[in-house]
Amino acid sequence: MRMAAWAAIAAVCLFVAAAAHAATDQVARGRYLVEFGGCNDCHTPGHFTGKHDPRTLGGSDVGFGIPGVGVFVAPNLTPDELTGLGAWTDQQIANAITRGMRPDGRRLSPIMPWKGFAHLVPSDVMAIVAYLRTLKPVVHQVPGPFGPGQTPTVPVMAIVPPSLYATFKPPPR
Ligand code: HEC
Repeated sequence: MRMAAWAAIAAVCLFVAAAAHAATDQVARGRYLVEFGGCNDCHTPGHFTGKHDPRTLGGSDVGFGIPGVGVFVAPNLTPDELTGLGAWTDQQIANAITRGMRPDGRRLSPIMPWKGFAHLVPSDVMAIVAYLRTLKPVVHQVPGPFGPGQTPTVPVMAIVPPSLYATFKPPPR
């Protein structure tokens, strides 16, 4: 009886250790996919202006302009409840990544490469979600989206005609 009890305890310990290991593996896999998927490029502030910013995936400070459609700023993906994904369920985050569908029903602009991410296998999508949950929450509400007639409040990357680009003088850095 005693032996059986010890065996049961050992089995539970092994199971808990294995589960903890699996969770660590899942987060590591998610981090690998996030780095490979370029999420940091678009969703971390400072990336496009060459300024290091420790607010990893805390929402960009540059918008993407799609002529005639609007300007979209890649939002905060950290677990902050109000300005990030903290209040979203795992499935809502997965739907945004693979179907471009936000919880409020708005379809994300194709600047967010969800059509490519739609090919991720479900375990990889959940690994990305698990990794995003481990990020330090950042309080940062990105502005927008801005409609075609609106003036954006952040610098914009956009497709411009060659003649306009040729005359463009960048501001001093
Ligand atoms: C080329 C730029 C780009 C890349 C790369 C990118 N995103 Fe995005 N993402 C965006 C933009 C821009 C939006 C907002 C689009 C909109 O508002 O219509 C967005 C929106 C989102 C949203 C919805 C958030 C919200 O609050 O609406 C999630 C979740 C998301 N991206 C996750 C990811 C993940 C995870 C990766 C990497 C696997 C990734 N994105 C890679 C540009 C990008």
